[in-house]
Amino acid sequence: MSSAFTSKLPNLETSIFTEMSIMANEHQAINLAQGFPEFDAPAFLKDKINQAIHEGHNQYAPSNGLPELLTQIAEMVHRHYQTELTVEQKLDGLKGVTITAGATEALWVAIQTLVRKNDEVIVFDPAYDSYEPAVELAGGVCRHIALEAPSYEINWVLVEQTVNANTRAIIINNPHNPTGSILSQSDLSTLETLVEKYNLYVISDEVYEHMTFDGLRHESVLRYPALFRRAFVVSSFGKTFHCTGWKMGYCAAPDALSAEFRKIHQYVTFCSFTPAQIAIAQMLREQPSHVTGLASFYQQKRDLLVSALEGSRFKVLPSKGTYFLLLDYSAISALGDREFCEWLTKEIGVAAIPLSPFYQSEQRETYLKNNKVIRLCFAKNDGTLLKAAEILCQL
Ligand SMILES: Cc1ncc(COP(=O)(O)O)c(C=O)c1O
Repeated sequence: MSSAFTSKLPNLETSIFTEMSIMANEHQAINLAQGFPEFDAPAFLKDKINQAIHEGHNQYAPSNGLPELLTQIAEMVHRHYQTELTVEQKLDGLKGVTITAGATEALWVAIQTLVRKNDEVIVFDPAYDSYEPAVELAGGVCRHIALEAPSYEINWVLVEQTVNANTRAIIINNPHNPTGSILSQSDLSTLETLVEKYNLYVISDEVYEHMTFDGLRHESVLRYPALFRRAFVVSSFGKTFHCTGWKMGYCAAPDALSAEFRKIHQYVTFCSFTPAQIAIAQMLREQPSHVTGLASFYQQKRDLLVSALEGSRFKVLPSKGTYFLLLDYSAISALGDREFCEWLTKEIGVAAIPLSPFYQSEQRETYLKNNKVIRLCFAKNDGTLLKAAEILCQL
């Protein structure tokens, strides 16, 4: 006798990214919804991956990553954040870094490493959508705290009030998707104090680490030794090198946490794509200016879009990092953000992402009552951005 299958994630809906991208395709709208670059990966990187494939580097890499890539990451981390990660030049390379199948795998594994049954994890809404299902499957629960709109800052008093005996970890995302806000030195210092005081861990999702604007410094957890002692720091080469489809990322952690992370990583993917590891190592070694130039590359795109929207009835909110820009549409429509995005995609021809799906249901209503905001992705060619802005200016 067959019985209905019991879902382990009964409340999970199709992601808003999938939903909006399908809608954008169906209606041939300009897709500023999903966060992927419209332009290609650097030619050097593509040449190097081709070369690696043709030279026969097509078998398993060491589970934790190729030593040459791990070494390049350690050097980059040192250049940017003055942090020394442990280098151990054996087959399994650096103890403190593990190469993963995108940041998504790194986040997943970090959560499985940390979270035990009934543990609580603090997340900030609007929250990237992969955190909560991973926490739930580990047997934990997320405690949601809304960032304070319209600046989308963390209310640390509320964070401290939320911490209790079951709190295991705090997940931060800096620079922040979807809002484009960034954390300050004082945010990181407060986090450090809390984490030490209450014996917590941190998962720091820093996939947009190289995209902060107007000379603002990225406050990586890697800059704060006492914080890093209790943290997993996650990054994505897909974001840095415009190759999101390669699914290449890494997790940096202190040695003892890294060892636990690797126990799980080996049974999730074992290792990640060998030719890409070779190519990225060469890219980091021979073309470091790509990484250092990324902030100004995206700042120009942000500025182009912002100035093209100047005549519109949208209110542009500040984007300090990432490749996302928030627009307040309250002068244009009374619709909820999901309905507004649907209308914008189907009737106007520009696809955007609503913010409310990034909120837990209880927070969503309060948020929607006070905010009418959508997210645009400006990792697009200048022509696409100008065309979209021209349409949006007519509303
Ligand atoms: C905040 C955040 N974290 C993680 C990821 C996933 O990164 P990856 O594509 O490297 O898995 C994304 C991708 O959009 C993201 O925006």
